[in-house]
Amino acid sequence: MLSEIIEQNYLLASQGMPVNRVPIWIMRQAGRYMASFRKLREKHTFLDIVRTPELAAEVTLQPIKAFGFDAAIIFSDILVVLDALGCGLEYEEGQGPIIRNRVLEAKDLELWHLDNIEERLSYVFEAIKEAKSLLNGVPLIGFAGAPFTLASYVIGKPGKHNLQEFLHFYFQHPELVETVLDRLAKVTIDYLNAQIEAGADAIQIFDSWNEVLPWSLSQKLSVNYLYKIINGITAKKQVPITVFGKGNSIFYPLLAKTGANVIGFDSRADLGFIRAILPKGIGIQGNLDPHFLFAPRHILKNEVLRILNSMGGAPGYIFNLGHGILPKTPEDNVRFVVDLVHSYSE
Ligand code: CP3
Repeated sequence: MLSEIIEQNYLLASQGMPVNRVPIWIMRQAGRYMASFRKLREKHTFLDIVRTPELAAEVTLQPIKAFGFDAAIIFSDILVVLDALGCGLEYEEGQGPIIRNRVLEAKDLELWHLDNIEERLSYVFEAIKEAKSLLNGVPLIGFAGAPFTLASYVIGKPGKHNLQEFLHFYFQHPELVETVLDRLAKVTIDYLNAQIEAGADAIQIFDSWNEVLPWSLSQKLSVNYLYKIINGITAKKQVPITVFGKGNSIFYPLLAKTGANVIGFDSRADLGFIRAILPKGIGIQGNLDPHFLFAPRHILKNEVLRILNSMGGAPGYIFNLGHGILPKTPEDNVRFVVDLVHSYSE
């Protein structure tokens, strides 16, 4: 009985309900900082793992088994949607993702496969089913990239991910960019509904790069599409939805109107201040700066406790990082933070 309550803490907190201890998961919790992941990566490419449901499920469970997080997140990447559209996704060692077929003019969009996206992404749904069967009740988070963040990878000249170029392109071709955002929103609605049907217990939408947007464009290019997606999620099972972006400590008043259950905060926000002014029905997730995981224990401990104290035991709080965990993070420090957060309220 007790373990059932603990297993549900993440879902309860996401809906503003009381918990018996603060739940914790961390963005990018499965990946290169874990020796068990690096071992698997010696034999398989990143995309092979993502496209093989048994392997994706195995990696999804690695951090749950190692550290006892309160939620798992399906092992995949936000960019698989662009791949399914036919944009040509590759990851080059040490270089990050590359999208080969970019959108430079309207006719490039004619090549996008907009139908049957569920079929081309079926490996994600299979991975969700497989992971669910192994998780023993630990909730599973499904996810997608937000249209703005996805568009920033596919619009403009090929090359390194370049947000400055995205904005310059937008000023030259506003209608084309809006069409791209609109199509990405439609596809993402189908994708997320299918993840919920496959068994996802919660959804996180990543608009990671919203931090580059000025206030005057954030509603137009980012928040409007989050609203569309959240309102398009009509799967039978109702699941909590979190929106994360590195600019959320500025944009939260706009995000509060999207219908999201939880806002994920970057490390610049003072969560205590935010809790006092954010409508009570909206949960807060965050926001330990990932670099603190490299600090000496006493510094790390003070910072974790500062964040927990700033929330003052208010319901609707999920401990997380302010952005994804960094590749060389010591695993012992991750274990230390999970145990500290759990023991804080017990
Ligand atoms: O455990 C989890 O959180 C699930 C896995 C996950 C990955 N990517 C795996 C991954 C999730 C949720 C993502 C989301 C993602 N992908 C975002 C939004 C979250 C964020 O961090 O802001 C973004 C912007 C991407 C795009 C992306 N994918 C980048 C920029 C990179 C390269 C940078 C890097 O970390 O290497 C990737 C590759 C990627 N996605 C890896 C992993 C584990 C590394 C691939 C490898 O093992 O070589």
